[in-house]
Parts: sequence; structure tokens; C-alpha cells
Amino acid sequence: MFNFWDRLSQEERKHLLKQACQIDLTRLKDASREALGQAGSVNDSDADLEPAPWIPLPSGVDSTRLWEEAEGIGEELLNAGKIAAFTVAGGQGTRLGFNGPKGAFPITPVSQKSLFQLFAEKIKAAQMRFEKPIMWFLMTSEINDEATKKFFIDNDNFGLSSSRVRFLRQGMMPAICPTGEIILERPDRISMNPDGHGGFFRAVVDNGVAEEMRNAGIETISYFQVDNPLAPFLEPAFLGFHSMSGSEMSSRAAHKKGPDEKVGVFCKRNGNLSVIEYSDLPDNLARLRSEDGDLVFNAGNLAMHAIDLAFVERIGKNKGIYKLPYHSAKKKVPTVDAQGCQVTPKKPNGIKLETFVFDAIPLAKSPCIVEVCRADAFSPVKNAEGDDSIATCRSDQLRKYARWVKEAGGELTIDETGEPNISFEITPQFADNQDEFTRRWRDISNPCIEDGLILD
Ligand code: UD1
Repeated sequence: MFNFWDRLSQEERKHLLKQACQIDLTRLKDASREALGQAGSVNDSDADLEPAPWIPLPSGVDSTRLWEEAEGIGEELLNAGKIAAFTVAGGQGTRLGFNGPKGAFPITPVSQKSLFQLFAEKIKAAQMRFEKPIMWFLMTSEINDEATKKFFIDNDNFGLSSSRVRFLRQGMMPAICPTGEIILERPDRISMNPDGHGGFFRAVVDNGVAEEMRNAGIETISYFQVDNPLAPFLEPAFLGFHSMSGSEMSSRAAHKKGPDEKVGVFCKRNGNLSVIEYSDLPDNLARLRSEDGDLVFNAGNLAMHAIDLAFVERIGKNKGIYKLPYHSAKKKVPTVDAQGCQVTPKKPNGIKLETFVFDAIPLAKSPCIVEVCRADAFSPVKNAEGDDSIATCRSDQLRKYARWVKEAGGELTIDETGEPNISFEITPQFADNQDEFTRRWRDISNPCIEDGLILD
């Protein structure tokens, strides 16, 4: 790190030292040993894998009763102010190619509301339904913290009280080269990346947020990713199941679209409930089908979790067995040569180190998985084009609205995929779930949908 120290100016030295001080050397040592394969790295090839059990959507009298019970319990938790919303938004968003924090991306089909605005409106809508206000925490990182906060200030916090919208920064990890040394991107600058969404645990503990949550009476965090505008992160039934199962960390799942969909899958790995990332699931297992034709490993990870604060604190302290494994990704990391001249590598020369939030599941007491209606709850925007893109996400929003309208008895022309031939929008204030929509729709005299309509 200090190869070029002698020739740096005072200012440059100050900068380099500031970055160096952020590095936890013990963590880095553990992480590089794992990444370089010298210690129990994440490896699924020899693991004993079985599909994970999950709580399916209600389909008969008994399961409907169970879901109603869960819903009642979830409502009590929300009414008592025990739930906080938590968005992880610290990633680089490179694939989307958007110049700004991903949450600022305009995503709704007609009014072009940003992801952040949509989430704020869902929170406002929930605040009308439940007795206590809801706190919203957003994890940013050094690369987008300032821009994210500015976006909220410029938009007046989307009407939410500033005391209930809190930002916290996740940690950074240096990139290392295959021999384990830290990479310099310039003579005075270490190449650093956000430490992965698993950094959430540490960020909550280190920034004093855990204490703030505890003081506010929050017991459970409803965690979701910034990239999914459909995320039903305040749905009572899920929170109720989490509580009824005595689970410390619960997750939402939906059937995978097909064997190649880029979502992690829930499974039992050596007997423990876990997520296997799509890139790590052996191809023969990803394609394995049961007699009725369904994928055997079909429980897709939607990256929505209910996580107890006490559990977050345990993992965030990173002691004993409560440590998350590091994952490594080989990257082309801009660097300097022996003379300090900048070099743009043509092939991967560095390793990025990250932890993943879902690796905490096997460490949790009684983890449970609850199914959600995929079409209502999941359409991430990750890429500029193709799968999980801006276009697929907008179409999925329209399909969802169109289905709600048709099932409530409204008239609408749709194609064979369920997409309507016009664009319209249903805001969370109007209805944030299908039952609520049906009730409201039936209250309107002569309801009709036309192109460009915003039901607000
Ligand atoms: C992720 C999950 C995958 C899941 C899918 C659902 C991983 C490794 N995989 O895939 O199992 O099925 O979502 O959409 O996560 N983030 C941070 N800080 C970071 C890195 C990421 O806050 O250091 C946030 C991002 O802002 C984003 C989210 O985490 O909100 C997801 O990150 P991303 O790397 O895009 O995950 P995916 O590969 O899409």
C-alpha cells in the first residue's frame, strides 16, 4: 500500500491513510485466506443438497386459515411499531448503466416515479393502515451515499418525516491480487469496493443503528433490495409467519421461471437451510425435474427477508461461529505498475471480496421460507436490456395492474402474456395489494381504465 509513499504530497498521504484506516486487517486476512482457497471457502460441489421446505400460498380451507392467522399476527406487529423497513442500496449498479444511485432510476410505466419514491409511497400507504409510523433505513456505500441523500433532500423525502428516514453506510473492502496483496488503483489510492450486502449486519451494529432501532421499539427488520419495485416488504402475513415460527431470519420465495433464471435457490445444504447462488448450483441439479415436471430446486430467492434485530447484532459482531463467509469474484481492477503508472488490465488481475446476507440463514434459529405470488411481488431491474431489464420490469408492472383490474371485473384488452395494450398505473396510495384494490375498484361508480390513467 505504501510503495509510493515517499513521492506522495501531504494531501495524497492523508487520503491514503484515511483509506487504509478503514481496513480491518483481521477481517481482510480471513477473507483473503477464504478467497485464495486456503480455508473453508464456499464450495457446493461436494455438499449434500436437498430442496428446501417452504410454506406455500394458501390453497384450501386449512391453509387459508393459517395465512389469516399469520396476517393477524403480522398486523399486530406493525400496529405495535415493531417492524422497520430496510433497503440495501449500496451496490454499484454497473449492469444497469445508470449514472446515479439505482434507487433514483425512474421505473413506473406512466409517471416515471423512481424506485425510492415508490418505496416511500408504499410506506406512506402502510402508515395509513397501521397505528404506528414506520421507520425506513437505507444502506448506502461510499460510492453513492452522498448522491442518495441528495436525491432524498431534493425530493423532500417524498413526504416522509426526515426523522424516520435514516441512512447508514456499509463498509468497504480492498481488492486483492491473487498473491493476497492489496491493489493500488493509483499511487495514493487503494482500490476499494462495498463489502457486499452481507455488510448490512456490520453496518447496523457499527453505525449505532441497532441501538436506535432498539430504542424505537423495533424488533424485526424487513429487508429488501433496491432493484425490485414490486417488493411487498410490509405484507403482514409474511411477518406473522416469521413470528409464529420463532424464526430469527425468514425469507420469501417464488417458483423459478426456469432452470436458467439468475436467482439463488433455497435448499438444504448438509441439512441446513441455505441459499445457493445460481452460479454455484450444479447444472444437473438446476435442471432436475420431478415426475410432475416441476424443477426440484425451484424455490427462487427473492432477496426479501424478515430478520430479528437480536440476530443482526449477533452476526454484526462477527464473533465465534457467527461469521459470514467471503465470496470472491475475479475482476479487471485498474491498477499501477512498479513505476506508479496507471494500467488498465485486459484480463482479470484482482479479486473482489464480498459477504452475502443470505449466508446468515444457516446460522439463524428456525429459519422459514414463505411463498409469495411472484407476479405480484418480484420483477427486479438489473440490466439495461434483456432479462430483468427496464422493459421487462415495466411490462411486469402493467401485467400486475391488468390482472388486478380484470379479476375485479374491469374491462381491458390484454395479450397472451397478460400485458395490456395501454399503459396505466395503480399507486400504492390507491391500493398496495390485490384485495385492497378489488375493494376500492368496486367502490368506484363506472370504473374504467384508459391509456395514461393513474389510479391514485
Ligand atoms: C441477488 C442475489 C440472488 C437473488 C437475486 C434476486 C446475490 C449474490 N444474489 O442477485 O440470490 O436471487 O438478487 O433479485 O446477492 N448491494 C449492496 N451492497 C453491496 C452489494 C449489493 O447494498 O455491496 C445491494 C444492491 O444495491 C442491490 C442488492 O444488494 O440492491 C443486490 O445486489 P446484486 O449484486 O445486484 O445481486 P444479484 O446478483 O442481482
